[in-house]
Amino acid sequence: MKQATLHQLRVFEAVARHNSFTRAAEELFLTQPTVSMQVKQLTKAVGMPLFDQVGKRIYLTQAGEELVKTCRQVFEHLDQFEMTVADIKGLKQGRLRLAVITTAKYFVPRLLGPFCKRYPGIDISLQVTNHEGILSRLNENVDDIYIMSQLPENMEVDTQPVLENPLVVLAPIDHPLVPEKRIRLERLATEYFIMREPGSGTRKAVQDLFDEHKIALKVRLDLGSNEAIKQAIAGGLGISVLSVHTLALNSPNSQLAILDVEKFPIERYWYAVYPKGKQLSVVAQTFLEYLLTEGKEVAHKTVGARLSGLVNYQD
Ligand code: PGA
Repeated sequence: MKQATLHQLRVFEAVARHNSFTRAAEELFLTQPTVSMQVKQLTKAVGMPLFDQVGKRIYLTQAGEELVKTCRQVFEHLDQFEMTVADIKGLKQGRLRLAVITTAKYFVPRLLGPFCKRYPGIDISLQVTNHEGILSRLNENVDDIYIMSQLPENMEVDTQPVLENPLVVLAPIDHPLVPEKRIRLERLATEYFIMREPGSGTRKAVQDLFDEHKIALKVRLDLGSNEAIKQAIAGGLGISVLSVHTLALNSPNSQLAILDVEKFPIERYWYAVYPKGKQLSVVAQTFLEYLLTEGKEVAHKTVGARLSGLVNYQD
């Protein structure tokens, strides 16, 4: 490995991540023959094949898998070193890699605005993905911080509660239940229900509540998008339970009402999560501190403003 260069490792990692020489070449602004040559030289230095080719597809070999892990550790340490040097110079500089679960996209970008203004030297990459996507990224230690509500069950993680994530029952504004108070949970079983897709944290929380009370919902359809569910409610397809954070400013909120149902809102939290014992970079640590202090205030203001326009919302 003494002959391997950092450049070769970066090229190899990009090929492994994209599972494609062409895409890696595009990302790195290199030609494909250059990428192939770099991987070939690295393979020689390792002394074992890094990829298997089956038809047009490439697969990492066991040695390749191990090298990807090593590459990520090396890059992470180098990034941390760069950030530490910037910190010594009195600058907060570097890259913050965030991955957030689908529903968190309603408030995390809002929090980034003031943060980026304060620390213009920090670049941010934000991935929005589903629960499965977050778990696999967390497992591979791809990002600095993850934001989610439903915590991973089979992984050792450090968590910090960042913000409330109440789930509320939403109905079309002209629904007969809108004026009613303290609606009984059983009453919802007579309504058509629109559910988030399997794997969603929101879905799990809703199912847990109704299972606990042995109530079967009349699920009319599953939808993998909060926005599609809101449109479906407004269109009269049924009622649903979503996070209040989904009630963004430019959606058909004026056509939706929050129902006053017993056991609601379901109290949940957004957590900042990272692998247990992970040494956070200076930049990630700065962001975490921001999240737990001013970030909370920014989010409260935004969410509060969204809710005040809705029928039946009591703070
Ligand atoms: P979602 O919710 O998966 O329904 O978007 C977030 C979570 O519970 O982690």
